[in-house]
Amino acid sequence: MNRKKLQWILAALTPLWLTFHFLASIDGEKRHAFMPDQASHGHHQIELQCSVCHTENMGVKHDACASCHQEELDRVADSHPITKFLDPRNADRVAILDARKCVSCHVEHQPDQTDSMGVTLPTDYCYFCHQDVAEERPTHLGLPFDSCSTSGCHNFHDNTALYEDFLEKHLDEPAFKLDPQLPQRQIYRNWAEQNGRQPLALAERDAPSTASYSQDIAFEWSTSSHAQAGVNCMDCHQAADSNAWVEKTNLASCQSCHDYEAETFLQSRHGMRLAQGLSPMTPAQARLPMHAGAAHKELSCTSCHSDHSFDTQFAAVDACVACHDDSHTRAYKDSKHFQLWMAEAQGKAASGTGVSCATCHLPRMEVTEFGEAVTKVLHNQNDVLRPNEKMIRPVCIQCHGVGFSIDALADPHLLDNNFQGLPSAHVESIEMVIEKLNRVAAERAK
Ligand code: HEC
Ligand code: HEC
Ligand code: HEC
Ligand code: HEC
Ligand code: HEC
Ligand code: HEC
Ligand code: HEC
Ligand code: HEC
Ligand code: HEC
Ligand code: HEC
Repeated sequence: MNRKKLQWILAALTPLWLTFHFLASIDGEKRHAFMPDQASHGHHQIELQCSVCHTENMGVKHDACASCHQEELDRVADSHPITKFLDPRNADRVAILDARKCVSCHVEHQPDQTDSMGVTLPTDYCYFCHQDVAEERPTHLGLPFDSCSTSGCHNFHDNTALYEDFLEKHLDEPAFKLDPQLPQRQIYRNWAEQNGRQPLALAERDAPSTASYSQDIAFEWSTSSHAQAGVNCMDCHQAADSNAWVEKTNLASCQSCHDYEAETFLQSRHGMRLAQGLSPMTPAQARLPMHAGAAHKELSCTSCHSDHSFDTQFAAVDACVACHDDSHTRAYKDSKHFQLWMAEAQGKAASGTGVSCATCHLPRMEVTEFGEAVTKVLHNQNDVLRPNEKMIRPVCIQCHGVGFSIDALADPHLLDNNFQGLPSAHVESIEMVIEKLNRVAAERAK
């Protein structure tokens, strides 16, 4: 390489090199200045951590998106995984839209062209690769391309609630199921047994006599399921490196016994800052509407599980409405779901018949632990939030038919008023699916 060329390259690289070193040495506020524009809804909480997405020369790390999202996409059996586009048979499509790269559809720092799901493409982009469908399939003739994913038919990644076999299984169910009930939670059915613990009484608490605390704390603990399972004060209040008493506990102490809850919390928009080693999220930093009085509450396990009774009924509604303050949240207490929840909370209806904020947003999921299926509470509310059909499978179909659920979730008015009243329109695509299922059944019968 001749010297001139080398000098030229060095000159070209210097600003980048300087930028990086400068960025690494300055604090967050100033880093903002180097960002082309604010980050998307999903990432604004961590936008100042440039290095989670960017390489030293401000390119996008090749595995940045996958490192945080691949597990979720795999779990929902992504309909368009990258591997599909590595197949040489799809080279012509890749030439039109390079779907091997997440950033072809999810650019950052472009607030004007980013939709609510972090997508930066025009809504009719399915056309790029599936032009033939509207031209050749009788059922799809003349359908506009911006309707593929807006009318409840297809999503790009997650179609678990829209697969035909799933729809077929649930189509005949009535809009309102008879005597519906959510699955019961099981935390560690055998934890006490496996760890040789017995239920503890008030006098058996093991906080040292030097610790000062109110009797309320001791009493609340003694009535909690922790005391019932033999979990004592020192299980949460012991220093990590000695057996000394510490008043301040942290997330790690909860995580040692509640790994699934902690892990899913850290993936959520409640815990994603803690996952990056940043200060906890607070309502003051939010883009969504929040109560002014809650501005400086820090998000951690104890923002919902506040006192020593670890009352999950409090966590499921009262905790949420103390921070969130949008029309959907405010409308909840006028809904029939809330009436069902009150009946359950007051012991007038069976447990699992009420619908709280947490019923929909932190649903009970079946997970496998030590080879055994157990039902636990998913603490990542974003896992079931958008596209909102994600809520059908774990939540709505416990109590409603799938057609009713799709119709309700497609109605913007019902989202805003927290499901007061019946869906105003019927999602046509369901009729298409029913027609197809009937056709297939008729052919099979021949
Ligand atoms: C959540 C991931 C993420 C974070 C965090 C992030 N960026 Fe980006 N950034 C992107 C993506 C994606 C692109 C688009 C790349 C493309 O178009 O190929 C981008 C593009 C850029 C560009 C190039 C813009 C252009 O028009 O070519 C700059 C400069 C940049 N980011 C700076 C920053 C700075 C500075 C920070 C930290 C204050 C930051 N970014 C934080 C994901 C991120
Ligand atoms: C450090 C981890 C991290 C990295 C890196 C990251 N994300 Fe995210 N992303 C999150 C979290 C956490 C959320 C918010 C919770 C959620 O929506 O799942 C989110 C939200 C999103 C959303 C919005 C989902 C919604 O419902 O609003 C999209 C789309 C997205 N990320 C795509 C990407 C892409 C593409 C990249 C690579 C440029 C990327 N992410 C990089 C953690 C990350
Ligand atoms: C061809 C465009 C395209 C590409 C490429 C793409 N996405 Fe998406 N992504 C979308 C669309 C459209 C949505 C909106 C929801 C839907 O229709 O499934 C979405 C939604 C998401 C969401 C929100 C949650 C969900 O399950 O829908 C995440 C997270 C996400 N994408 C991450 C990624 C990551 C990570 C990559 C790279 C491995 C990627 N996307 C590649 C178009 C794309
Ligand atoms: C970058 C190209 C590309 C884009 C954009 C794209 N697809 Fe696909 N899609 C494919 C490829 C490749 C396949 C694999 C099957 C094939 O070869 O047709 C596929 C398969 C499918 C399937 C088959 C079912 C399945 O789960 O395997 C459906 C349905 C589908 N796409 C719908 C959509 C919809 C709806 C959109 C827009 C939201 C879209 N696609 C956008 C390339 C694309
Ligand atoms: C399941 C875990 C757990 C158990 C068991 C537990 N605590 Fe706590 N304790 C906490 C958490 C979480 C906090 C709040 C810490 C914070 O704000 O950082 C706390 C706070 C405290 C405080 C500080 C004052 C306050 O109100 O915030 C005292 C004192 C205390 N606990 C005493 C006790 C005593 C005495 C026992 C046994 C009778 C006990 N704890 C059992 C988790 C636990
Ligand atoms: C030493 C292990 C251990 C630690 C540490 C621990 N827990 Fe627990 N926790 C349990 C067990 C065991 C149960 C289940 C009791 C049962 O079977 O009902 C439980 C139950 C719970 C419940 C359900 C209460 C109910 O009434 O249904 C919540 C909420 C909870 N823990 C939160 C926390 C939080 C938050 C922390 C950290 C401050 C924490 N736990 C620390 C073992 C622990
Ligand atoms: C946004 C509020 C919120 C936050 C933050 C939160 N929880 Fe929960 N948690 C709940 C609600 C609500 C329930 C009960 C849901 C139900 O009954 O279906 C629950 C249930 C639990 C349970 C018992 C149910 C089970 O089987 O999973 C444990 C254990 C638990 N949480 C631990 C934690 C830990 C550990 C953290 C911090 C990493 C945490 N929670 C943070 C709201 C929260
Ligand atoms: C201490 C305050 C606080 C509590 C308690 C709380 N949240 Fe949040 N919540 C937040 C903040 C802050 C965000 C992030 C908002 C942002 O980034 O703009 C958030 C995000 C969310 C989101 C994601 C919204 C989105 O668009 O991605 C949902 C859903 C949510 N919370 C539901 C709940 C539910 C349900 C409860 C109760 C079980 C609850 N929250 C308890 C403060 C709180
Ligand atoms: C019957 C189920 C259900 C109940 C009950 C429910 N929600 Fe929602 N919530 C949803 C759905 C569906 C969405 C919309 C997701 C979308 O399409 O954007 C949503 C959206 C949200 C959002 C995100 C708003 C945004 O603009 O990003 C927050 C925050 C939220 N809910 C909090 C709550 C709180 C707090 C409660 C209790 C007071 C509650 N929800 C009760 C189903 C429910
Ligand atoms: C635990 C059971 C349960 C779950 C889960 C549940 N619902 Fe409901 N829902 C009901 C019952 C029962 C009613 C009827 C209440 C009545 O008429 O008194 C109802 C009523 C409704 C109504 C009509 C309200 C009215 O004012 O007439 C809508 C709309 C609705 N649900 C939508 C949903 C959606 C969407 C989901 C999932 C995000 C969902 N529900 C989850 C039990 C549930």
